[in-house]
Amino acid sequence: MARLDGKVALLSGAARGIGGETAKLMAQAGAKVVIGDLLDDAGRATAAAINASGGIADYVHLDVTKEDDWTAAINLATSRHGKLDILVNNAGVFIGKGIEEISMAEWNLLVAVNMTGVFLGTKMCAPALRESAKNSEHGSAIVNLASIAGIVGSQLDPLYSMTKGGVTLFTKSTALEFSRKGYRIRCNSIHPGVIETDMGAQTFVARAQRTGSNDPNVSRKTVLDTVPWGRLGVANDIAKGIVFLASDDAGYMTGAGLVVDGGMTAT
Ligand SMILES: NC(=O)c1ccc[n+]([C@@H]2O[C@H](COP(=O)([O-])OP(=O)(O)OC[C@H]3O[C@@H](n4cnc5c(N)ncnc54)[C@H](O)[C@@H]3O)[C@@H](O)[C@H]2O)c1
Repeated sequence: MARLDGKVALLSGAARGIGGETAKLMAQAGAKVVIGDLLDDAGRATAAAINASGGIADYVHLDVTKEDDWTAAINLATSRHGKLDILVNNAGVFIGKGIEEISMAEWNLLVAVNMTGVFLGTKMCAPALRESAKNSEHGSAIVNLASIAGIVGSQLDPLYSMTKGGVTLFTKSTALEFSRKGYRIRCNSIHPGVIETDMGAQTFVARAQRTGSNDPNVSRKTVLDTVPWGRLGVANDIAKGIVFLASDDAGYMTGAGLVVDGGMTAT
């Protein structure tokens, strides 16, 4: 696995799921991690588990839609560890409703977390990432959680797809703007297929409701049948890709998207 020795990482939405697994892998790879989330009990438990197994982790309450929360999270990372090398914009929400069914409140929540959260994290962390990049041969790194729904259209989840499409292109634009400014902050996205997390389970429930089967196991099987590799993804599949993109092994990658989907978008 790629190494992150001496690096300091801030991960949003990392109390559980893909973010939680990434925090664990990053700590195993030698990074000091700061876990931000809304789920305080789960976030503290994830940090405690990392510390108990010899890693270094802190938890901070971080609502990615709030500037003050970002300031507190960045202050925790820099006051504890003196710098910030890696930002993982992982927090996200899923609402599996169609164009004609979704309410304005639901749409505003999707945009606030999945898009404003990524923009704010990038903006607020840029000064610290830029500073630490001065002392690193391969610069600092941002990894954004997009989705295969941010590369191809989604007939069942069009609004979620719209937010992830935004993340896909914002990643490329961030890479270009920060390169133009000479910040030496690499910015890449990762595009998971269907991953077995709480959000993965939510997608099966939503699909079951919308296709009329009302049985999440039926929609799970329907999705599974579309995965060429023959299994659904797990958080560890995605965490490995994030660790790579955050590491110096990806030192010549910026503005790129790493697809980890068992071949779903190869067809
Ligand atoms: N699971 C999948 O199939 C899948 C596929 C493609 C992309 N993704 C993306 O991967 C990322 C992680 O998803 P996951 O599957 O681990 O889901 P998850 O629901 O298990 O985890 C998401 C985390 O984000 C947190 N969160 C939600 N709103 C927040 C906010 N305002 N501020 C801070 N944290 C907040 C949640 O509390 C939760 O801990 C998301 O961006 C998601 O869109 C997931």
